[in-house]
Amino acid sequence: MSDWAHADPTGGRGLFLSFEGIDGSGKSTQARLLAEALRGRGREVVLTREPGGAPGAEQIRRLLVEGDGGRWSPETEILLFNAARRDHLERTIRPALDAGKVVICDRFADSTRVYQGAVRAQLRGLVDQLHRLMIGVEPDLTLILDTDPELALRRGLARGGAEDRFEGFGPGFAQRLRTGFLELARDYPQRCRVLDGNRPVDVLGAEVLAVVERALAGKVRP
Ligand SMILES: Nc1ncnc2c1ncn2[C@@H]1O[C@H](COP(=O)(O)OP(=O)(O)O)[C@@H](O)[C@H]1O
Ligand SMILES: [Mg+2]
Repeated sequence: MSDWAHADPTGGRGLFLSFEGIDGSGKSTQARLLAEALRGRGREVVLTREPGGAPGAEQIRRLLVEGDGGRWSPETEILLFNAARRDHLERTIRPALDAGKVVICDRFADSTRVYQGAVRAQLRGLVDQLHRLMIGVEPDLTLILDTDPELALRRGLARGGAEDRFEGFGPGFAQRLRTGFLELARDYPQRCRVLDGNRPVDVLGAEVLAVVERALAGKVRP
């Protein structure tokens, strides 16, 4: 897999971007705005999300995001995330990158690392092992939206919806996740950029676009 693992923005192949951060941090909003901005500049963009992003993976998504919080053991949940991710990679991400497109992914493996690590610290080793075995790729650039958990919770509540299985854990859990994403940025400084998600949509969006344009130009690796 390693031949396509890290798309080279200067080599005519695609660029793989992910948005990460807690629920309500603004990922889906910024992913959509970025896709529009890049398309407006003539780029071919695939906007996708996890869990899901391919027909089979979307079916697995429903098993993961709906229903009771205790529906799956943490280990079973990790396996479901990896099954969905593998399908997403095979059917959506890899073909798009091979065709030279920009792939914008709303959450990727980092979410699994941080969520499962926050549930039970020793699960992190299992997550990393499975990732190496079955996925083996990281985004070229990961934008971590760092948003105050209480603000993010208020935004999330305002949004509503049925996919609330992970939101029921409350603000204490969201704070642990936030810390987890910041630690992750320190673990992967080459590809991760932490952006202040408390700012207005357009201010944050302008910074997102600037960071991504630099990555696309291949001038500065983030
Ligand atoms: N920077 C922002 N300022 C204020 N509200 C925002 C901002 N970003 C997103 N929102 C709103 O907050 C809610 C959650 O945003 P969303 O992008 O869905 O977050 P996420 O995908 O990270 O869960 C949405 O209703 C969205 O319109
Ligand atoms: Mg979202």
